[in-house]
Amino acid sequence: MSVDTAFIEAMPKVELHMHIEGSLEPELMFALAKRNDIDLPFKSVAEVRDAYQFSELQDFLDIYYQGMGVLQTERDFFDLTHAYLEKVAAQNVRHVEIFFDPQGHTARGIAFETVLNGISRALEEGEKEFDITSRLILCFLRHLSEEDALDTLEEALPFKSKIHGVGLDSSEMGHPPSKFARVFEKAKAEGLLAVAHAGEEGPPAYVTEALDLLKIDRLDHGNRSLEDAVLTRRLQETGIALTVCPLSNLKLKGVTDMRHHPLKKMLEAGLKATVNSDDPAYFGGYMTENFKAVTEALDLSRADLLTLGQNAIEASFAPPARKVELKAELDAFAG
Ligand code: HPA
Ligand code: ZN
Repeated sequence: MSVDTAFIEAMPKVELHMHIEGSLEPELMFALAKRNDIDLPFKSVAEVRDAYQFSELQDFLDIYYQGMGVLQTERDFFDLTHAYLEKVAAQNVRHVEIFFDPQGHTARGIAFETVLNGISRALEEGEKEFDITSRLILCFLRHLSEEDALDTLEEALPFKSKIHGVGLDSSEMGHPPSKFARVFEKAKAEGLLAVAHAGEEGPPAYVTEALDLLKIDRLDHGNRSLEDAVLTRRLQETGIALTVCPLSNLKLKGVTDMRHHPLKKMLEAGLKATVNSDDPAYFGGYMTENFKAVTEALDLSRADLLTLGQNAIEASFAPPARKVELKAELDAFAG
């Protein structure tokens, strides 16, 4: 069966799982390296792309943290975010929820404000230029200590009006959600929403911890949840959404073949799954490419695609009035 390309391209989409630093295309990496007088260990864009061969999450993370080293000034963060919005505007993406990793920058001596101002200014201008609404989610790097995460939260609180939630990313194995229970409790007490990467490489027990201890409002990845029947039932009953990232799972060998991807099983089980790009510059595509790859491999129907679109609207952190608009657009598209 040929993929429903025109339908996927035209469908109004909502993205809920995308690390802005993971949208750094090699071309922009080179341009920023030049602008900031930084030496890259690559001679060409082709050489960079050739290096994007990963056998697990950590392989990717090593190159991801190296890549973000070219981001130095507020303008760099602005340009990065603007480039992402421009890309997804052309894919009919209508609302985005963006992760950023402040510790990946403050550890290099870049001020928190530099990062936040560059990204949030691009999001504000992007709303006018591209008619895309947004939410910003601050992620804690789980390979670092909880003290470091608590310091980062303290640094972020004066800018709370620009940040809607906190998340947990980076190396999952050996860094369970329980390590961050206090910082999430504090963030929630400050009125921030909570998400966490869990069950990407880690066991279902990490997903259960994220629900019980971090009180997450949405689950990032969650693929391995299906290995645990009790947990699967809990996700069904609570309706907590999963932000699934098909091309990421393929690139990081969470699945060896897209035909084995658990997305269809998730939908069949009534889980609120959504499709997202994770780190589009590293994993081979943005929203449309992710939808196409998984639709082709799993033979998803138009009804499945609309369910995925609908799930993303419901699971978004957009204000109620914006959700009504997004739903109306999707309904008008569905006809
Ligand atoms: N998993 C965990 N941490 C990350 C990822 C991911 O896919 N992308 C950026 N940080
Ligand atoms: Zn992610």
